[in-house]
Amino acid sequence: MAKAIVITVDGPGGAGKGELTKRLAKHLNYALLDSGAIYRVLAYAARKAGLALFDEESLVQEARVLNLSFDVQDDGVHVLLNNEDVTSAIRTSEAGVNASKVAAHPLVREALLQRQRDFASDCDGLVADGRDMGTVVFPHADVKIFLDASAEIRAKRRCLQLEQSGKEANFDEVLKDIKDRDDRDRNRPVAPLVPADDAFILDSSDMTIEEVLAKALELINSKLDN
Ligand code: DC
Repeated sequence: MAKAIVITVDGPGGAGKGELTKRLAKHLNYALLDSGAIYRVLAYAARKAGLALFDEESLVQEARVLNLSFDVQDDGVHVLLNNEDVTSAIRTSEAGVNASKVAAHPLVREALLQRQRDFASDCDGLVADGRDMGTVVFPHADVKIFLDASAEIRAKRRCLQLEQSGKEANFDEVLKDIKDRDDRDRNRPVAPLVPADDAFILDSSDMTIEEVLAKALELINSKLDN
């Protein structure tokens, strides 16, 4: 089989990567890698196993045996841990913070590297969503997008999401979580959240998802035509 076309979308939490990558994968009929879900599931499994999130060695062991799968259903992609549906459990703010802590360990990242690269085998194309997709996991990707947005806009969007799913949202707390998570993701020594040198930076602060999708498709088409 020919090498899959890889499109990476990196950026901070809440910039709209999830929605963009879902729509891109659907539009292009490509596979989708939600790498954040892998870190979220690892953190969830580690907590369940009673592991401390600073215990790198134990987290690496857990990462090696992590029985994780993605199941595409009519209402979206479901995340399974040992065949148990953990989709909603890993989407809480706490799960995001825990994922960010787990993801700060270099050896944990290394243990999960091949698992992520395997997503590009057995498919024509892959859309990869994360923090280091274009810098570390797929440095030779065909198209690299870095999707950004201000912390305030991201906090507003997150609050709206929480409210829509019937959960309470406190703007100041959400904003603090977002800023703390940004700091941890941007300042870690390995695979920090930075745009790849050859990434196209797209600021979604004042754009609708339709506008972001149109811009991303325009960029992808122009890159793949060349
Ligand atoms: O994209 P997300 O919010 O689901 O990611 C959760 C956390 O996982 C994020 O704060 C940092 C970490 N992460 C990472 O370090 N590298 C990735 N490629 C994806 C996520």
